[in-house]
Amino acid sequence: MNSPPLTPVRAARFAVLVDTVARTESHPDRVRHLAGYLTDRHSSGAPTLKVSRPTWSAPGLTPAYGSNGATVVPRCTLCDVPAAWIANTFLKFAPVPRLIKAGLFVRYAPGDALDKLAGRSDPLVPPRRKVGGGSRNPAAPGPFRESGDQAFAELREYGQIAPHHAILDMGCGMGRLARPLTKFLDPAKGRYEGFDINASELRWCSEHYASHPNFHFQRANIYNKMYNPKGTVQAEEFVFPYPDESFDFAFASSLFTHMPLPAVAQYLKETARVLAAGARALLTVYLWNPEAQALVAQGKSALAFRPHGDLIVMNPIVPEAAIALPQEGWDLAVRDAGLEQVGDVLWGSWCGRTNFARYQDAVVLRKPV
Ligand SMILES: C[S@@+](CC[C@H](N)C(=O)[O-])C[C@H]1O[C@@H](n2cnc3c(N)ncnc32)[C@H](O)[C@@H]1O
Repeated sequence: MNSPPLTPVRAARFAVLVDTVARTESHPDRVRHLAGYLTDRHSSGAPTLKVSRPTWSAPGLTPAYGSNGATVVPRCTLCDVPAAWIANTFLKFAPVPRLIKAGLFVRYAPGDALDKLAGRSDPLVPPRRKVGGGSRNPAAPGPFRESGDQAFAELREYGQIAPHHAILDMGCGMGRLARPLTKFLDPAKGRYEGFDINASELRWCSEHYASHPNFHFQRANIYNKMYNPKGTVQAEEFVFPYPDESFDFAFASSLFTHMPLPAVAQYLKETARVLAAGARALLTVYLWNPEAQALVAQGKSALAFRPHGDLIVMNPIVPEAAIALPQEGWDLAVRDAGLEQVGDVLWGSWCGRTNFARYQDAVVLRKPV
């Protein structure tokens, strides 16, 4: 495959891409996400690097990546450029994830060490080298906390949660939501259950939440090309490992944004099964409707979604990097699951909407009594 010649501008843009992806996804995921972009680029022979935001401009970089619709401005540091050059040259041949992981380690390990020395580490905030950048952690450890606290505030506002409740966190990642809940849930009566498919993140959570016996993390070995390419279970067939009606609230943040609709439909059915009657769920999605479609076509979206077979994706090589769900299909899946929507969708800014409540779209659902 022909690779376009590397110019300083392209190297800088690549650095920004690395930085942006690093700031958008959690550690192992971001590596696959980035690898997907690069594969895409090489296989399409595109003359320039693809970036997810069409209105890219350096150095006033303004991708709207923020968990709350807030703009996150990625830095392009001096050391990013040579790092990008090396990566750009060798990525085609090198074991991509390891190379990038090593780069991220080099980049973030000093910050981790400084945090430790300065006593800034919080045992429930993963080190920078694990969560890297990302909207959840642009300059760790603070923003991991802040975005977790924002998610918690939304739960309180829309979920009607109480300290004695049992809370389910689907695709819990590194416990962004679990951390604020440790201060909210009653240790004797409240309960948190998180499940995910990422073994190393769950190991970290289990270790770090050991002193919170009402917090449990479980792994499901479900296939997802981006997050768990060796998974053996299909999400469409996955049955949550919890009894019927055992939760008072269910949460999925940035999970359905990485799953195709049939898998999401199964998760909605399982959500309905495990929720108590009258309980709510808050689920984030990218809803693909005429408004979002028009904004993407006009180049206003932070995420350049496009149709790919039955899916709406950003990256056909790794579709699970980001998936938008056709709104009609989503509404049907919600109804089929026996759930009902509470209020309007909390519309997100991801597609360039100017009137928004948060970054991703979010929907509050309820299991009828
Ligand atoms: C973007 S991260 C979000 C993590 C976390 N919810 C947060 O907001 O910080 C997406 C997470 O979904 C997990 N995931 C992907 N597919 C999954 C599936 N089918 N079931 C459960 N988790 C899944 C990934 O491993 C990853 O941790």
